[in-house]
Amino acid sequence: MTTYPTVRMRRVRRLPPLRRMVRETTLSAADFIYPVFICPGTGVDKPVGSMPGVAQWSVDRLVEEAPRIVDEGIPALILFGIPEQKDAVGSAAWRDDGIVQQAVAALKKRTPELLSIVDLCFCEYTDHGHCGVLKDGVLDNDQTLVNLVKQATSLARAGADVIAPSGMIDGMIARIRAGLDSAGFTEMPILSYAAKYASGFYGPFRDAAESAPQFGDRRSHQMDPANALEALREVAIDLEEGADMVMVKPAMPYLDVIRQVKDRFGYPTAAYQVSGEYSMILAAGKNGWIDEERVMFESLIAIKRAGADMILTYFARRAATILKSKGMPF
Ligand code: PBG
Repeated sequence: MTTYPTVRMRRVRRLPPLRRMVRETTLSAADFIYPVFICPGTGVDKPVGSMPGVAQWSVDRLVEEAPRIVDEGIPALILFGIPEQKDAVGSAAWRDDGIVQQAVAALKKRTPELLSIVDLCFCEYTDHGHCGVLKDGVLDNDQTLVNLVKQATSLARAGADVIAPSGMIDGMIARIRAGLDSAGFTEMPILSYAAKYASGFYGPFRDAAESAPQFGDRRSHQMDPANALEALREVAIDLEEGADMVMVKPAMPYLDVIRQVKDRFGYPTAAYQVSGEYSMILAAGKNGWIDEERVMFESLIAIKRAGADMILTYFARRAATILKSKGMPF
């Protein structure tokens, strides 16, 4: 290999335009999926304390914001619902007049070009905060599958564009695919939260979605942070069962997993920069310990560089707006 002094790596780094020309990874608003939290009522815009800049919106507020989100160049939302009433099984999740069903229908009318990706899980809908039906205090996998199909078909009827099951329930993709197909939704794409870790980084989300488990945790179904081979098996199973796209979650602590999933399977791969990743950057920025905007872009480009085709991020709107007006700050 040719080396110094023939080679001087700095030659292409000195001039900013040249530096941009040799840049290997790009970031654009089209890469982002913006998470939103929908709550009952009208005119509600309730800030989430643990996530500055994030709020719970009622459906009318969401519909008001939707055209602006489209103008910012963001192609998709992922919707989370906070229902009026919770119960032991989370039945509000599959009501045809449920909170997310209403949001999806209203969005379809106002901004049909903005994709509605719907998160499929029960933790926001159960009074105990677990991701499905409990039996003797433990998540009952197979009974939860039955309800997931009801939730998926109800949301499909409401007009959802993509179904995204996030519960790490065994067999969820096969059962949801079969349920959607037999209800006539053979074209409905499934984005599986295939490799979702039992992570401390979800802390602020549980505040936003009011979905913290009342006892215990989610380690019986979400993955052990120590495992990567197991993530590849999870992805292989979900693809076998019919997932069209797969997700790794959280993002930054699991860049190695994103890279391996992309290399091994070559499927459309999403990464979720979760609530804790977001709030940590804001908290450090607020303290003046880091340059918030710069770290925001560095984290997003890192996730993209690791192999993500799309990024679910609470920074979507802010990053899109800055990209449009002045580009990345480095
Ligand atoms: C489950 C779900 C969770 C998140 C997305 N979908 C929470 C959990 O598994 O406890 C977390 C997202 C985030 O932290 O931003 N419905």
